[in-house]
Amino acid sequence: MTYASYPATRLRRSRAQEWSRRMHRETVLTPADLIWPLFVIEGQGAREDIATLPGVARWSIDGIVARAKEAVKLGIPCVALFPNTPPGRRSDDGAEAYNPDNLMCRAIRAIRDACGSDIGILTDVALDPYTSHGQDGLVDARGYVANDETVAVLVDQAISQAEAGADIVAPSDMMDGRVRAIRMALEMGGHHNVQIMSYAAKYASAFYGPFRDAVGSGGLLKGDKKSYQMDPANGDEALREIALDIAEGADSIMIKPGLAYLDVIWRARQQFSVPVFAYQVSGEYAMIEAGVAAGIGSREALLMEKLIAFKRAGCSGILTYHAPDAARFLGA
Ligand code: PBG
Repeated sequence: MTYASYPATRLRRSRAQEWSRRMHRETVLTPADLIWPLFVIEGQGAREDIATLPGVARWSIDGIVARAKEAVKLGIPCVALFPNTPPGRRSDDGAEAYNPDNLMCRAIRAIRDACGSDIGILTDVALDPYTSHGQDGLVDARGYVANDETVAVLVDQAISQAEAGADIVAPSDMMDGRVRAIRMALEMGGHHNVQIMSYAAKYASAFYGPFRDAVGSGGLLKGDKKSYQMDPANGDEALREIALDIAEGADSIMIKPGLAYLDVIWRARQQFSVPVFAYQVSGEYAMIEAGVAAGIGSREALLMEKLIAFKRAGCSGILTYHAPDAARFLGA
């Protein structure tokens, strides 16, 4: 296709007025695009600020319920839950992960009681908030995170979350074969409508630091997660991960972190007809807040430019700690 050249074409014509900019806008962001991650702690009326995530707190279950109600008011369709398990309940085998009365399951039930079906509840399936070593799976005698043994535990964890009322289980552990195992167990357990949002392409990233502080696994973790999380240098491999997870029964897939992997989001959208979500992770949140604190720009401008980039790249939605701010900036 050939375009007329200047002056027949002046692309600034359509940008000259606000009404025209609005009319030509190719992508939109609405509160319905947002998923709000929340950190749960034991207690009553408890709130703990997280130094590396300024503006984000851990809440006891009553506070989590209040946040879920706030989300409903703001038009945010879904919250994602992450527990900070008390140290005494962490173990080498992470058995607390499938305790039907663990913090996560109690938080799910409390939100469901308070909000009914007005909000979706997404739960993380991985062992790191429950293990004494901070790895996402079971560590064998050689120090390797064992795949198949871990998958068996993840299945129990996902089922206990589904039984508590989770709407979407989101395996974030990057073990091979876990989506099929979880899907089969959900079907057999009668949880036909519980969705799986697979963290299909999750990279071994430096941007998870504040999250590990938030769930209390950072100080416990020795070494790294490179034997299961992906190499940031790889894009083709992400497409293979996504293809496998779709074949195993994922309803939607996630790319994580977000901004440094927009090309992967774009390629996933081009190649597969499956909803793609991005996780704007803790380090990304912290960098925006650091930018605001350093006087680089306003929170609204810095944040909304990044969020629209995810939509432009093809995302159905974004997990972001800035979800309530974004919803308010959008006029909710
Ligand atoms: C762990 C998990 C992580 C995040 C979500 N689930 C951290 C990790 O893999 O170490 C990171 C989220 C964030 O940084 O905001 N299964």
